[in-house]
Amino acid sequence: MAFSYAKFLVLLAAAASMLAASQAATVVVGGSEHWRYGFNYTDWALQHGPFYQNDKLVFKYDPPSENSPPHTVYLLPNLGSFINCDFRSAQLLANVTQGSGDGFGFVLTNNWRPLYFACGEEDGKNCKEGLMKFFAVPLPRRS
Ligand SMILES: *[C@@H]1O[C@H](CO)[C@@H](O)[C@H](O)[C@H]1NC(C)=O
Ligand SMILES: *[C@@H]1O[C@H](CO)[C@@H](O)[C@H](O)[C@H]1NC(C)=O
Repeated sequence: MAFSYAKFLVLLAAAASMLAASQAATVVVGGSEHWRYGFNYTDWALQHGPFYQNDKLVFKYDPPSENSPPHTVYLLPNLGSFINCDFRSAQLLANVTQGSGDGFGFVLTNNWRPLYFACGEEDGKNCKEGLMKFFAVPLPRRS
């Protein structure tokens, strides 16, 4: 059987891409903008997704101080509450101090089910007007 170098390269590339997809990523939400008022996280998520199962999203924000208004991370229960920034049934993931230092890490353990993230401060203003919300639909990993 003739050795096909081209075929070998194709197989190698396929193996490399499978390896990349099976390796969980750590992604800082907002990149160097971190988690702040006025940055479009929906746009950010569109540009930096899709996210995969076991990827870790990291939310970074300073604890409240004179120059730094409070931020939090909530999980909203469904699309309606996400659209309306309705926090009545929301689950607190990270309080005002948990985004400091290395930030708050959240591992996407589920497949397909959308996760609706939002900042719950200022009576929903950060979510509504500050654009501090996005959703992620973790895709299963190839294995
Ligand atoms: C945020 O980004 C989304 C997706 O690109 C876009 O549809 C939306 O209009 C943007 N919102 C604002 C207020 O710019
Ligand atoms: C935030 O959560 C951390 C860890 O659970 C806790 O130690 C801290 O007291 C909380 N801070 C506030 C302001 O609730």
